[in-house]
Amino acid sequence: MPLVTSTEMFKKAYDGGYAIGAFNINNMEIVQGITDAAAELRSPIILQASAGARKYANSVYLVKLLEAALELHPEIPMVLHLDHGADFDVCKDCVDHGFTSVMIDYSGHPFEENIQESRRVAEYAHEHGVVVEAELGTLAGIEDEVKVAAGDASYTRPEEVEEFVKRTGVDSLAIAIGTSHGAYKFKPGENPRIRLDILREIEKRIPGFPIVLHGSSSVPQDLVKIINENGGKLKDAIGIGEDQLREAAKSAVCKINIDSDGRLAMTAAIRQVMREKPEVFDPRLYLGPARDMLKELYKRKNIEVLGSAGHAYDQD
Ligand code: G3H
Ligand code: 13P
Ligand code: ZN
Repeated sequence: MPLVTSTEMFKKAYDGGYAIGAFNINNMEIVQGITDAAAELRSPIILQASAGARKYANSVYLVKLLEAALELHPEIPMVLHLDHGADFDVCKDCVDHGFTSVMIDYSGHPFEENIQESRRVAEYAHEHGVVVEAELGTLAGIEDEVKVAAGDASYTRPEEVEEFVKRTGVDSLAIAIGTSHGAYKFKPGENPRIRLDILREIEKRIPGFPIVLHGSSSVPQDLVKIINENGGKLKDAIGIGEDQLREAAKSAVCKINIDSDGRLAMTAAIRQVMREKPEVFDPRLYLGPARDMLKELYKRKNIEVLGSAGHAYDQD
């Protein structure tokens, strides 16, 4: 199977009460960990690259890595998605390089400008058989080197979504309902809640339309502990509860973005090897365990958080 768009995936996920995991990629080990996990569970999957990933690895490498993964796992539907595309030109470049889905993130701009840029991207992408995600509302946290303070974050306004979706022609919508980017989302003692009431309101206004949640890492405390017990100095932090994400995945939320948890898993494995075996200098001896830890984490996410295991068979 070649790379696919998310159209079919989202339709099945919407009707089936589960969500597709969208995991960020930066190198071969990450692609292998994600796709091996998906293949073992028969989960459809979205692999996404940020601007930072494209700068680090080069789009050509990322596309070729996915081609390799598809050759090894032809039964798994896979999407290559641009994460947080800053403007039309970035999105166009990814469409032209073989991505099957792009995100135009103009959420930091005024509503009307967001509509104009998102529509422009949708028109170009659709002409080339590529689907588009746009965003309304602002998440807190760090994304692509842009830091949004918690006070500057704003929830998506349900009364705007219908007009936005209609006028832009985009295929899915990322919303801000309390999730946050990065590993340092919330402090211990806080009780971060996803605003399911806002989600329900949005769902009512655009029934059947796929919703995306960014910033959905949960900052597993066992990984933080491994990192800090092996020389790391992560500050106290907690993420969004996995039970809340599971609840959201049963609704119109069809795509859930997780990146920071994967980074924590890899770092935990590498730190453990470095402390336990200081004589190691062969990168395979720490990148291998890092890949395994990432794979196990994403297997658990696919089963317990997203509910996507077994659903590769749903796709036509
Ligand atoms: O939301 C952003 C993703 O976690 C990607 O992060 O810009 O460090 O690649 P990055
Ligand atoms: P996390 O930082 O919570 O993993 O969010 C990732 C994300 O939203 C990528 O777009
Ligand atoms: Zn994001």
